[in-house]
Amino acid sequence: MFRIGSYYDLLYLLQLMYLVLCANQKPDEARTYYGKELASSDVPFIVGVTVEDLLCTGTIVLEDTVISAAQCFKSHQPEAVKVYAGANQITETGLYYEVKSIHIHPEYKPAPTFSVGEFDVAILKLKRKIPSDQGSPINVSVDDWGDDEATKKCRTAGFGMHKSATVNEKNVGKLHGSIVKVSRHPDSCSCAVMTNVQKKSVICLDSRSGDRLCYGDYGGAPLVCDRKLVGIAHGQVGCPNFSVPFGDIMMCGSDNLVDVFLWVRPMLMFLADHLPNIEIPQSLKNNGDKNIPAAFLLFTTILYQILVYSLFTKIPL
Ligand SMILES: *[C@@H]1O[C@H](CO)[C@@H](O)[C@H](O)[C@H]1NC(C)=O
Ligand SMILES: *[C@@H]1O[C@H](CO)[C@@H](O)[C@H](O)[C@H]1NC(C)=O
Repeated sequence: MFRIGSYYDLLYLLQLMYLVLCANQKPDEARTYYGKELASSDVPFIVGVTVEDLLCTGTIVLEDTVISAAQCFKSHQPEAVKVYAGANQITETGLYYEVKSIHIHPEYKPAPTFSVGEFDVAILKLKRKIPSDQGSPINVSVDDWGDDEATKKCRTAGFGMHKSATVNEKNVGKLHGSIVKVSRHPDSCSCAVMTNVQKKSVICLDSRSGDRLCYGDYGGAPLVCDRKLVGIAHGQVGCPNFSVPFGDIMMCGSDNLVDVFLWVRPMLMFLADHLPNIEIPQSLKNNGDKNIPAAFLLFTTILYQILVYSLFTKIPL
């Protein structure tokens, strides 16, 4: 998310922080919020999403359906959302698509500052289809990614803040991206402070792989592996030696922060509810069945509690 209104304040702070914190970094180090500028035809599945003064990125998954991050849609008002397809840069005068409805994952939990949230995904249904010369859908991956599988090379891109942004060059809202190394296993995510359970739901960007995310890329920028959507940009997670400088300030590309995507696979059941072309793998369906005894247990526990309560308080049932 990027609050466009605070653009100049942010730039000033970023530049200040760059001087203070990053003066010893090699200037041409190939890390992005440092990605290469792209044309929308390079990544035709990408859209820019604005919600009033917030900027996010999204992915076209059907001609009239976009996936983005739940963190972008606090107001849940479709009228406030604009989807920009086929654009290399988001401008206020650009052509956009209106949104018919917003569907947030029912178990969405926002991330605490510089930490991990849960099920940060939203589906936008558009009022009209995006024509093929403006953008084309990409399939959502249903593939597993085992704990012992190696690092993958995937593509990410977004409309977020770019390192080269200056007051004169409005590099916020300009499409950029690159090929990155990502991993998903218990030892990944370098120094990020996360529980093992959290690590199962995320894919971490290898910060030495050449690119970083920034505001506007998260939420929602896609991670695409083998031409399928595998991850959704979620945010930055702090390392033990990370402390928020000057209060709660936005910053990108720090060595003490790790960029994370949420893995789409744990969210497939929700996605499939809205995307008829997703075929849920049998292994996930079986996991779903395991929830039935759990729900039954919960139900009987609640009944038992009511019974005990009514006995103690002598309220007739
Ligand atoms: C998506 O999957 C379908 C069915 O497997 C396939 O026919 C189609 O080519 C895929 N689309 C893209 C953009 O990869
Ligand atoms: C913080 O920790 C990470 C990983 O242990 C290390 O790469 C980084 O240089 C450290 N930063 C500082 C400022 O100590």
